[in-house]
Amino acid sequence: MSLLEIKGVEKSFGPVNVLHGVDFSVDRGEVVGLVGDNGAGKSTLMKIVTGMYTADGGDITLDGQSISDRTPGERRRMGIEMIYQDLALARQQDVAANIFLGREPTRSVLGMRFVDRSAMKRDAQAMIDRLGARLPAINRPVGSFSGGQQQSVAIARALTFEPRIVIMDEPTAALAVREVQSVLDLIRQLSADGIGVILISHRLNDVLSVTDRIVVLNHGHAAANLKTAETDMTEVVSAIVGGGDMAEAAAHEARG
Ligand SMILES: Nc1ncnc2c1ncn2[C@@H]1O[C@H](COP(=O)(O)OP(=O)(O)O)[C@@H](O)[C@H]1O
Ligand SMILES: [Mg+2]
Repeated sequence: MSLLEIKGVEKSFGPVNVLHGVDFSVDRGEVVGLVGDNGAGKSTLMKIVTGMYTADGGDITLDGQSISDRTPGERRRMGIEMIYQDLALARQQDVAANIFLGREPTRSVLGMRFVDRSAMKRDAQAMIDRLGARLPAINRPVGSFSGGQQQSVAIARALTFEPRIVIMDEPTAALAVREVQSVLDLIRQLSADGIGVILISHRLNDVLSVTDRIVVLNHGHAAANLKTAETDMTEVVSAIVGGGDMAEAAAHEARG
């Protein structure tokens, strides 16, 4: 049984059909690349997994149990974390505040609840250390950090809640070369910890170097499901641009 399974998911926005019965799965410790052209439906599919969008059809299971009726908050507590393309960080706030944004640990004093700043700082530092992330200072506003450092903060935030699945939407798009390598190393570490990782990326070299499997979305269809060890750039690109279908269509045409 897969950790996460998406079966026959359909989604339209008004008259526009975006996902046409998509199947997709990720196992424990597996890194799956989700690739496809702009507008193929990648982000929409993942927002259906987190519960941010509701599917029009199909089902999603975690450990074989349907989560389609669960709220986004419940899914998060069940271990599904998504790191969005824009990272959704509070730029003026420091590392600890960002890691615990909206989920701050509290303590009770004389019957009143207060945010536990020292617990936040301690836990944030522990997570940054565990990631081996290099940050200038934990008490600086994250808006002053580089793209890769901000990405590390977003990953630390996702990991603090002990996820079972981490979905990353274009984590390396805006990064310098060296920072890309450290994000890829982090992905490998998540996988070694048994976490299922879904990596949405246009950077096919990154996808080919870090994933176990690659799923190609093409106009809302799962056009290919490839073992990374058995595929290459040409085959992936061909599935993205619909080359396989076009070649087949041409062959069909030629046969008359
Ligand atoms: N909230 C929305 N309302 C209307 N259309 C949307 C919405 N979100 C996405 N879409 C449309 O769905 C299609 C797929 O978008 P998206 O999932 O963002 O693709 P990708 O992430 O693969 O680039 C696009 O045509 C996009 O315009
Ligand atoms: Mg997208």
